[in-house]
Amino acid sequence: MSKSSFAETFRTDRWWLEPLLVLIGLSAFIIYSTWSAWQGQYYWWSGGSEGFGGYLSPFYSPPLFIKEGIPGTPPIWHAWFGPWPDWLYDFKYLPASPAWLILIFPLSFRFTCYYYRKAYYRAFTGAPPACAVGAIPRNNYKGETGLLVIQNLHRYTMYFAIVIIFILTYDAMLSFFNDGRFGVGVGSIVLLINPILLGAYTFGCHSFRHLVGGSINCFSCSKSSRVRYKGWRFVSFLNGKHQMFAWLSLFWVGFSDVYVRLVSMGFITDLNTWGV
Ligand code: FES
Repeated sequence: MSKSSFAETFRTDRWWLEPLLVLIGLSAFIIYSTWSAWQGQYYWWSGGSEGFGGYLSPFYSPPLFIKEGIPGTPPIWHAWFGPWPDWLYDFKYLPASPAWLILIFPLSFRFTCYYYRKAYYRAFTGAPPACAVGAIPRNNYKGETGLLVIQNLHRYTMYFAIVIIFILTYDAMLSFFNDGRFGVGVGSIVLLINPILLGAYTFGCHSFRHLVGGSINCFSCSKSSRVRYKGWRFVSFLNGKHQMFAWLSLFWVGFSDVYVRLVSMGFITDLNTWGV
């Protein structure tokens, strides 16, 4: 049987649409998130107050260090380890942006996700671009046994992603306060939806499903295994919608950053109960 050439297929449907949308969607996110992380400013809004509360962009959370005196940055009490130290990068073309210190964790989790791997292998490498469609010919295809064996790190990056869900949940709670006063703004809703969607994506992870329900032979044999069965059923439900939550959460985390940035820059006004 002769090898098919790239994109050769008997399929008559629009098989090219999905990889094309993945290519556009992921490229747009990568370009925007890189640009945003580079800014190091306008990632916080509190209407000028220094007290408890405010909106923090998820791209910058948690801020390990904060450089003071930069517009749109949180008050120093929000930094986990204090002011920006002298030994860290702070140059004209690489400003003191705390985003670079933490983005590796959520990005490595997404990059190694089983769903995204399928999606971007198809969209970016055409290997193959879709089921029953000819791949870009390769002589030394090794799958995930060569360099890409690194994808196995996914089961470890998952733990960092879970921690980040809790941090973003704290940020969502923080967004319901301004200068210590409880209230609600459009930004509070935006930042509340963010960890919900990210949680639906993260807790539907294949590795998490194994953690909850794997390595067990009998679900009904003990009380703990019955509890795990219930957890496994729920994770399996999320897992069945993993692709949908992968895209919804990706879009929303980017949208949350855009919203906080535009409010912080004064381009739009946040509607809220604090009157700030
Ligand atoms: S498989 Fe997608 S997040 Fe783990």
